[in-house]
Amino acid sequence: MKKVSILGTGSYIPKRVLTNNDLQNFIETNDEWITTRTGIKERHIVENENTSDLAYHAALRAIEAAKINKDEIDMVIVATFSGDNAFPAVANVLQSRLGLREVMAFDINAACSGFVYALNVAEKALRNSKMNKALVIGAEVISKYVDWEDRNTCVLFGDGAGAVILGEGLGDIIDNNCYSRGDVNRYLHGSGTPLKSPENNVGNTVGNIEMNGREVFKFATRAVPSSVNIILEENNLTVDDISLFVFHQANLRIIEKATKDLNIPMEKLFVNIEKYGNTSAASVAIALDEAVRSGRVKRGDKIISVAFGAGFTWGAILIEY
Ligand code: UT7
Repeated sequence: MKKVSILGTGSYIPKRVLTNNDLQNFIETNDEWITTRTGIKERHIVENENTSDLAYHAALRAIEAAKINKDEIDMVIVATFSGDNAFPAVANVLQSRLGLREVMAFDINAACSGFVYALNVAEKALRNSKMNKALVIGAEVISKYVDWEDRNTCVLFGDGAGAVILGEGLGDIIDNNCYSRGDVNRYLHGSGTPLKSPENNVGNTVGNIEMNGREVFKFATRAVPSSVNIILEENNLTVDDISLFVFHQANLRIIEKATKDLNIPMEKLFVNIEKYGNTSAASVAIALDEAVRSGRVKRGDKIISVAFGAGFTWGAILIEY
């Protein structure tokens, strides 16, 4: 069977830094509250760049790291809920901007789980087709959706992008799972785009993020251990066999609780939430790139990544790097 390996990774973070102290200029909050409740110290937000710009730079870095010619790319998937426009897809914009052949290019929206979903889809597409290499990206400009007057949510999120090139190589994507529960999507969603009609031609609005933090917290602390246990059991592995856990960076307390429940030693955990906050679909992709570039992951290591987010959606992936 064809192997589907991570050939290269890249990420791109916009320059503007917004520290916890900076947020005090807009809302009633403080560094101590944000740090102890979330682990976040700062996040980056765009000034003039949009989602496709962040995705473009992350993609260039992944292509360079993979040492491939961009003409070898057969497919582009971008995981995002914050594309530049409702359509066309960010992936379509990138296909042209990166100067790729006329390849399949589309976006996936599974909120914060999007990158894990996209890896799942790309892995199956490569394994079962003539396509050999995929560019898979998680990219978000969440600042567009943030209500900057809502202290319950605005402190949590940041913008960024991460990318991987998948193709035949030394490693493999061993297994993955993805789940969804739409019955509880009221707990976390971007509020709606209103309906229009010839009689009521009101302008479009971009919805704000609305969240019931406690419900999301409860869900996430159940979903992460559950999907990790499923993937371990189905592959006859234990935590000891895994070199690194790269979880969605939404809240340090969620990561720590899941880690404790799963008996994962802290040194097997990759955490960068303090620098970026929750970058949704970009979070696992950025973390993976930083883990690779900082030498935390070596060829042959087994990694588990888990993401969870609005929907609810969640899923895990087992990678031999
Ligand atoms: O990808 C998934 C994305 N979402 C998540 O992962 C979110 C998961 N949930 C969480 O991370 C936590 O629920 C939060 C960090 C959002 C909130 O923590 P919490 O311990 O559940 O706090 P809370 O919502 O119960 O609020 C406690 C207090 C409230 O004040 P009162 O009503 O007790 O007087 C809030 O108004 O903290 C207040 N508060 C703040 N205070 C200072 C809420 N936000 C802030 C703030 N600064 N930014």
